[in-house]
Amino acid sequence: MEQAQEQIKESKIIGVPTSRIDGPLKTTGTAMYSSDHHFLNLAYAWPTTATVASGTISNIDTSVAEKMPGVLAVYHHGNLGPLYRTPPAAGFSMIVDEKRPPLEDTTVRYYGQYVAVAVAQTVEQARAAAEAIKVTYAKTPHNTSDKLLGTPISEPKPKEATKRGDTTKALASAAVKHDAVYVMPTETHNPIELHASVAAYKDGKYTLYETSQAVVNHRDVLAAMLGVPPENVQVITRFLGSGFGGKLWPWPHSLLAASCARNLNRPVKLVVSRSMMFQSVGHRPAIDQRVQLAADASGKLTAIQQDYVNHTSIQDDYDEGCGEATGFLYSSPNVLVTGGLARRNVGMPTAMRGPGAVPGLYALESAMDELALKLKMDPVQLRLINEPEKDESTGQPFSSRHLKECLTTGAEKFGWNERTPGIGSMQRDGLTLGWGMAACTWIAARSEAEATVELHQDGSARVICGTQDIGTGTYTVIAQMVAHETGLPLNKIEVVLGDSSLPPGPISGGSWATASVVPAVLQAAQKAGKSLLDVASGTVDSPFKGKKSEELELVDGSVRLKGQTNAVSLAEVLKIAKVKAVSGTGKSEGTFGNPALKYSFHSYGAHFVEVTWQPEIARLRVSRIVTVIDAGRMLNPKAARNQIEGAVVMGVGMALFEATEYDQRSGAPINSNLADYVVAVNADTPTIDVTFLDYPDYNLNPLGARGVGEIGLAGVAAAITNAVHHATGIRVRNLPVRIEDLLTSPNGKLASA
Ligand code: MOS
Repeated sequence: MEQAQEQIKESKIIGVPTSRIDGPLKTTGTAMYSSDHHFLNLAYAWPTTATVASGTISNIDTSVAEKMPGVLAVYHHGNLGPLYRTPPAAGFSMIVDEKRPPLEDTTVRYYGQYVAVAVAQTVEQARAAAEAIKVTYAKTPHNTSDKLLGTPISEPKPKEATKRGDTTKALASAAVKHDAVYVMPTETHNPIELHASVAAYKDGKYTLYETSQAVVNHRDVLAAMLGVPPENVQVITRFLGSGFGGKLWPWPHSLLAASCARNLNRPVKLVVSRSMMFQSVGHRPAIDQRVQLAADASGKLTAIQQDYVNHTSIQDDYDEGCGEATGFLYSSPNVLVTGGLARRNVGMPTAMRGPGAVPGLYALESAMDELALKLKMDPVQLRLINEPEKDESTGQPFSSRHLKECLTTGAEKFGWNERTPGIGSMQRDGLTLGWGMAACTWIAARSEAEATVELHQDGSARVICGTQDIGTGTYTVIAQMVAHETGLPLNKIEVVLGDSSLPPGPISGGSWATASVVPAVLQAAQKAGKSLLDVASGTVDSPFKGKKSEELELVDGSVRLKGQTNAVSLAEVLKIAKVKAVSGTGKSEGTFGNPALKYSFHSYGAHFVEVTWQPEIARLRVSRIVTVIDAGRMLNPKAARNQIEGAVVMGVGMALFEATEYDQRSGAPINSNLADYVVAVNADTPTIDVTFLDYPDYNLNPLGARGVGEIGLAGVAAAITNAVHHATGIRVRNLPVRIEDLLTSPNGKLASA
């Protein structure tokens, strides 16, 4: 990777807390989300979903539905028209989780699988018709069990994800050992914006308004599955009401909408209902993890072994990758991670905020707490003494790792040294306190990106990039970079994203969108600036006529001789030259699979949590959270803080509330609504004290920026369950913590023990 070391000593805008430039559009309701798009002649599609979890469709009776008011068409496996499967994914292109196109055949593999779709003049008519389609099934036995470890596991066989040394030997001879199984339920992404697709079709070309975290991939997949060239498909996602990973890759409804539009030759809108969102647009799978730790008497880790199994769907493989962080977070000569898949009759699982590391660290950081107890050692201390010098999984030096400082800073801000280790030993205002902590980490990476910056005669700039804003501030951070480079104010910078016809940009995922666009946008702005200086020096009536463009500079939106004060605004320069606009395109490479990569890139952090416990009424509350994050330079600390706070809130939900429950009789996810699938809300979360260490990671990109989308969630659930144990004496290893788990707390009695 190029070693661009444009260290920003001073910037009027980078690192400055900046409100979202798209905020006014959203708060006034004028931002166009995907399902807001409307067309003359728009028809509405509503899918019919399978009411069995395994079997074969023996008959579909559409006779009643077809005669219902407003109904335009009813489609099923027999008449939807051609759809194709994609070739295997390469890099970050052509990714689709559920490989089978919708309605491909008569086999049903999960409850909620689409089996037909009705299209009508109104959404109510479409829904009524979809519900009137009579589908009969030949049922076969299904399996939606969440017992994973120790049950027969289908092919592929468990694989070794990370291995060094010999854990079996080290565990056998360890001075201190810990061995436990940690269980996580299925979790469902619940962005407030429902998944939706508005498909317009004309002369073989598709314009698709999608809820997509990756418009370029969505275009490529849809083109391949519809069987048309990529230039015949345009995917647009101007705004997203979040996605949490559920909107990374295309789901079957998108193909249904496009097929219906093609068949009827008119625009079709399909909005996935909240209930269907628990069935057919992904989820974090149920996961069992056995963690074994060995340490010598001083607390130095001698072995880490993690064996996990996650469920996947009947047809496709989704590996949660729970060992992502296990190989490098702590120093240990012996490490083994194995991963296995258990096939279940469930919809296809997918990435959910912090896939791999978030569940993995729930288990590892819980196990570290349990080991610290056995060692009678402070849990912060246990982590500090196991700090590695380098990435022991690859041998690479860390590009920028400040985990120790996260731990010590967090401990100090939280007041950790006042902690007394005895269970139930801390009280305040009649409440029992529990204090727990956990470390966290998440990958730091960048992918390929391209962007173009234009400088206009009216004194404005325009930047385009085929990435999208998931809602976290991508529009704003890109505008900040152009402002940084040109000196134009933010309100003169237009940012255009969310369109697959723009220069290809990164996915809004993996926490790498920001880090990826940095080099491309800076380079584009520099090239546009250079082109402006060429205009200034090379046009007839220019005040800089006769100067070389190298003698000029663009500062604060004006051109001047280097170091001089007399400046001419860029608008004036272009006006004099009668040039409408100049532009520059930047292009940058990714870190993935780059053989020249010399560093281990990761972000780090630590969470300190206080819970309050009232044994008399079994009332548990999270009362205080201190989080310290080491994630490179914060380009926009306001948006970044907001990201971490949101992730920590999600962590409270993961620890205490979130679980998708499958009815074992029908195989249906039964709490498929926002009343019964409980997520953390304001009343569940205290003020979250977020600190950024703000060490720039210049090996990753010229601004030293990493990403903060996911790291804030990693470790939170363990910090909470560790605190729950400190307060109650109950070690919950089966998320979420339920009141029932705590009813046997020997609390009061143990306080004096
Ligand atoms: Mo995230 S799960 O990479 O959208």
